[in-house]
Amino acid sequence: MSEVAVVGAGYVGLTTAACLASLGHRVTCADLDEQRVRALAKGEVPILEEGLPALVAEGLAARRLKFVVGAAVAARGAEFVFLCVQTPQSETGAADLSAVEAVAREIAPVLAPGTVVVNKSTMPVGSTRLVARELSQAGAASDVGVASNPEFLREGNAVRDFLQPSRVVIGCDDTAVAVRVSELYRDVQAPILVTDPASAEMIKYASNAFLATKISFINAIANLCEAVNADVREVALGMGYDPRIGFEFLHPGPGYGGSCFPKDTAALMHTADTAGYDFSLLHGVVEVNRRQHERIIEKLRDAAGGSLSGVRIGVWGLTFKANTDDLRDSPALVVCRRLLDEGATVRAYDPAAGEAAAAQLPGLDVVADPYDAVDGVQLLALLTEWDEFRWLDFGRVAAAMESPRGLVDARNLLDPAAMRRRGFGYQGVGR
Ligand code: UDX
Repeated sequence: MSEVAVVGAGYVGLTTAACLASLGHRVTCADLDEQRVRALAKGEVPILEEGLPALVAEGLAARRLKFVVGAAVAARGAEFVFLCVQTPQSETGAADLSAVEAVAREIAPVLAPGTVVVNKSTMPVGSTRLVARELSQAGAASDVGVASNPEFLREGNAVRDFLQPSRVVIGCDDTAVAVRVSELYRDVQAPILVTDPASAEMIKYASNAFLATKISFINAIANLCEAVNADVREVALGMGYDPRIGFEFLHPGPGYGGSCFPKDTAALMHTADTAGYDFSLLHGVVEVNRRQHERIIEKLRDAAGGSLSGVRIGVWGLTFKANTDDLRDSPALVVCRRLLDEGATVRAYDPAAGEAAAAQLPGLDVVADPYDAVDGVQLLALLTEWDEFRWLDFGRVAAAMESPRGLVDARNLLDPAAMRRRGFGYQGVGR
């Protein structure tokens, strides 16, 4: 079992730390935010992630997991240091690596000889070498190794994705170092792919860009289905039986959001631009996604009879997808912001992120109950696919709403026929 430091206690860092501890390693997880560290040390997990509170509690109780303030404190004495800090999108679209560089400079002087620094956050091609250079310039021992080990964690499913991954990718020029990293995953059943750093880094971006492409593709097909009276759900089903295509990531909706796809597609386009390659396919994917947010607004405008000004709208769901409290790049927020800009009154309900959304979007009236959100509204927009929305009393919803009772189901969560029977002017996506 190894001594592991994890720098960053966000979605990726916290999941990595808790899961590595559950695999038997002794893990010290560091963050800059003292309050966050204090809460975590008491077992209070500040994010919504299924299974994570239990793993954190288990790690703390077994004394295999602890939380500290400051990267250097965690890195002292560690055999492995996982970098899980944020790599946000900069103005050019490129990933901003300043947090990664700062951590590398901070930990360099305290790293024991032979330590391996592992890039876990999504970092552009060349970052493994960049971290190695920063470390050596800041005085790290010459035998400190650096490897890329990208994460493929879906929010809401992160613990499962870590412990039962589809694959573990390790990018390192030094095979002995790669083998040491792979041994951390000894108890994980998954193919392990050891490759060079640039390929490992590209695997992460290519995977996310491909998934984003699937979503934009099915959204484009959905839009076409609307024009030719086909049902995209039947189309996706018929496509999915082909094992070369598969069923996953063929759900049309308001476009993808979240902390990864928008940022990673922008960063990959920037990489392509810098390399002199015209990645027009990816530009198209991003543009389809932007227009998909617009289409939901257009559907609502149509349902309101052409103008949103003065229209009362209820919104269900604000997070970028269900089962997370994350609002980053949420299409639902894009839609709400636009509805407010066009003069509508918006009452919104979200099971996990209502308060946080209200803080981000002044003018948004956030309520604590889905029925409250529809009281007296003329239109309802279902923007995130929380399961609880399926099981509400739609007789009560219809009674609470006023004419014309438009219902835009941006996630195709509800049954159109049942909704029309109840008197809603139902519109889904591509059906
Ligand atoms: C994603 C990747 O799946 C994960 O491997 C990576 O490490 C981080 O980015 P995440 O952002 O948590 O994970 O969410 P994901 O479940 O992939 O969904 C991303 C977005 O695509 C969401 O907005 C979701 O609503 C949307 N989506 C997904 C669709 O619109 N249709 C689909 O069929 C699937």
